[in-house]
Amino acid sequence: MANDRLKHICARRELHEVSYLTRKVRIKNQPVSVIIFAFEGVAYAYINHCMHMNRPLNCEQDAIFDETGKYLRCSMHGFIFDPKTGACQSPVCLGQRLQALRLEEIGETLYFAEKHLILID
Ligand code: FES
Repeated sequence: MANDRLKHICARRELHEVSYLTRKVRIKNQPVSVIIFAFEGVAYAYINHCMHMNRPLNCEQDAIFDETGKYLRCSMHGFIFDPKTGACQSPVCLGQRLQALRLEEIGETLYFAEKHLILID
């Protein structure tokens, strides 16, 4: 059963029908875009904000994965990230991570499990 900590994202199966979804949310009064995707059968969500030059990963292309499908990739300058941890693998930003958001699956439905998150759309 959902509670006020859980914010509905989508039916779990929807993540298998697309390479990623985006949602606009507000966290601590800041509007941000979030990417949500499934990788090796697990759902992940990160704030869509590359730390290199503050761009969304999909700013230049409608894609967030590299050609191998093993890494997230920022389409601005090509920095890559571990999809499971958000850790940047490119030397300039080594040691930095995309900001992960907690998810929860209840039945066939996926939710953000962040108390201070408000859905915008
Ligand atoms: S802004 Fe993302 S790699 Fe440069």
